[in-house]
Amino acid sequence: MKPLINEFFVMESRMRIGVLTGGGDCPGLNAVIRASVRKGIKEYGHEFLGFRDGWKGPLEGLTMPLSIETTRGILPRGGTILGSSRTNPFKIEGGVEKIKDNLAKAGIDALIAIGGEDTLGVATKLDSLGVKVIGVPKTIDNDLNNTDYTFGFDTAVNIAVEAIDRLHTTAESHHRALIVEVMGRHAGWIALHAGLAGGATCILIPEHKFSVDKVCQWVESRFKSHYAPIIVVAEGAIPQDGDMAVKDQSVDSFGHVKLAGIGDWLAQEIEAKTGTEARTSVLGHIQRGGSPTAFDRVLATRFGLHAITAAHEGDWGTMVALHGTDIVRVPLASATEKLKLVPIERYKEAEIFFG
Ligand code: F6P
Repeated sequence: MKPLINEFFVMESRMRIGVLTGGGDCPGLNAVIRASVRKGIKEYGHEFLGFRDGWKGPLEGLTMPLSIETTRGILPRGGTILGSSRTNPFKIEGGVEKIKDNLAKAGIDALIAIGGEDTLGVATKLDSLGVKVIGVPKTIDNDLNNTDYTFGFDTAVNIAVEAIDRLHTTAESHHRALIVEVMGRHAGWIALHAGLAGGATCILIPEHKFSVDKVCQWVESRFKSHYAPIIVVAEGAIPQDGDMAVKDQSVDSFGHVKLAGIGDWLAQEIEAKTGTEARTSVLGHIQRGGSPTAFDRVLATRFGLHAITAAHEGDWGTMVALHGTDIVRVPLASATEKLKLVPIERYKEAEIFFG
């Protein structure tokens, strides 16, 4: 007979749970916080404390109250009421001990860490060092492993599609090639989805090096119709004979370089090789700002609800994830095992529309 309570999980009694959001912000973060807090207090009677600015919060003891009252009205709000940062405690002398001390001082039993590759990478290491953690996946880039989608991605894609729709009309009026540079450091999900939905002339993604000559052929063939070309390029896309376009040589505490310039570089190449005018619009942080779409609000809310239940059941070291339409729990470590890149077959589906 099936046990009434899953025997693998020890139901935790009342706990004081810390919540933090780390890495690049993302529409839907507030919806996760609200859902965890609401269910945690109403259904389980837990208490919450917000840690400010990612891992900087527990590292420096920066906190804010989290209650049903302080999380009211935040569902549609972009950004994160907790603030965020790219602080890496493993790059700071004594960082882990400081975090453990501050959690103990604040009476925190467990943490819900909402973040992407870097934040969840830290959470995985802390879990192995005895900190009780549940992970919630977030990134507009949709490149986290072991979840079909992350919230924020749908919002970013919709923002990019709106921009592409607008750029079509001005490109046609001026008989210009317009390039839209979207986010996507290593994975081209935003470019692929926005380009497909926006009817792009071609889509350039980091997973698949591109030929500038081929792009110019597509541009010229599109000009032969009465439409003007729109090229969607991910910031991390790489030309066959070149390298990723970086702003400078500086890196953040997780070793990431700042990407910038692939769109402008491509515009110059197109002008030089085809003799037609080309311009670039870099969407940048606009893709991360503002209100989440309904899809992202629902996904983020469901992640928040399931994360607090995972904490309540003491299922530490897990991450909530979307598999199909179900929210499941997967090992936290699996989120950062590898990046979820665009498979070549998915890119090939889009190629039929190029040119
Ligand atoms: O990781 C999410 C992301 O949006 C990437 O696509 C982008 O390269 C990066 O963040 C930019 O982050 P920031 O400028 O905030 O450091």
